[in-house]
Amino acid sequence: MSALTSKSYHPGVLPIQFEQGRIMLVDQRKLPHELCYFDATAHDDMCFAIQDMVVRGAPSIGVAAAFGLALNVARLSTLSKPDFLKAFALATSELNETRPTAVNLRWALQRIAALVIQAVDQKYPGDIANLAFKEAEKIFQEHLDANLAISEYGAALVKQGDSISTHCNAGGLAACGYGTALGVIRAAHFAGKNISVYVDETRPRNQGSKLTMWELHQDAIPSTLICDSMSGHLMKQGKIDLVITGADRIARNGDSANKIGTYNLAVMAHHHKIPFYIAAPLSTFDCELFDGNNIPIEERSSSEVVTIDGVATTVPDARAYNPGFDVTPAELIAGIITEAGVLRPDYRSSIDRALKIQI
Ligand code: MRU
Repeated sequence: MSALTSKSYHPGVLPIQFEQGRIMLVDQRKLPHELCYFDATAHDDMCFAIQDMVVRGAPSIGVAAAFGLALNVARLSTLSKPDFLKAFALATSELNETRPTAVNLRWALQRIAALVIQAVDQKYPGDIANLAFKEAEKIFQEHLDANLAISEYGAALVKQGDSISTHCNAGGLAACGYGTALGVIRAAHFAGKNISVYVDETRPRNQGSKLTMWELHQDAIPSTLICDSMSGHLMKQGKIDLVITGADRIARNGDSANKIGTYNLAVMAHHHKIPFYIAAPLSTFDCELFDGNNIPIEERSSSEVVTIDGVATTVPDARAYNPGFDVTPAELIAGIITEAGVLRPDYRSSIDRALKIQI
């Protein structure tokens, strides 16, 4: 991997911060109009924050939940061991159920839980809480490092003057660091590659127009907002050289779940012979799933489809359907950019190798 290409290349806005023992989350529902913080120190507030997408994006959800669970360990530490274990299991499952598709959530909670369960017979409650908090900090730091590696491996795939299309938000807000898909774009920009970006608006929650445009604006990266339905037209006109998105869960054969609309983009890119890349950390891979058929797809409230920012956009009582994610089949993906390098087909073996699974 190359050394950092520019001094101005820095992590994006970190979505999770600590102030005097409190977990403060950037309230992503309020951007780009307002940069403000939501106090998610209390367990119920953290569950709400993940569900309502105060904090969102698979890696950031995992990191936030890890801190949330660590704070629970401290909160429950005065209980007897049996009561502690019961309450800890409940808190873990409540956090786990907040959002079903992003596997990083389960992955991060399992890491904290394994440590706590192992320590419970050997250490004092205060020490266990400390251990859990340190593990959450480690997970956070690992994401920063992974994001940086992804950004640099991915930037090598970008050519001078490329026009890149992206969907949803896979920047620092979503990934806790430099960003994944947006990290690649930022690294290519700071390497002086003179790139430009087409940003899908990403209905229904508009993570593209609200968050990706905001993050690109912070770095002054040339970017153009388009409606989700416009990418085919642009590809046909030769205006897009490559597509990069993030992922929320990747099966062992490379099938990748990402924000709804990603599959359309991948099919369109395949038709136009434009390379379609996924950028994601190894924590987004689900080694329990052999393909994408069983990836749970979150169905969110229809109110997100029939309104924009609370304002109705259709007839009263309109019926609406709101699957939050779709699955792009591995054969449409040119490469998966991870901190272990760019994985290529055959994904079954390249993914197993990256995850160090015995084949
Ligand atoms: O519903 P969200 O906003 O949490 O969606 C998840 C995502 O941010 C995207 O699908 C993203 O591309 C992958 S996570 C970096």
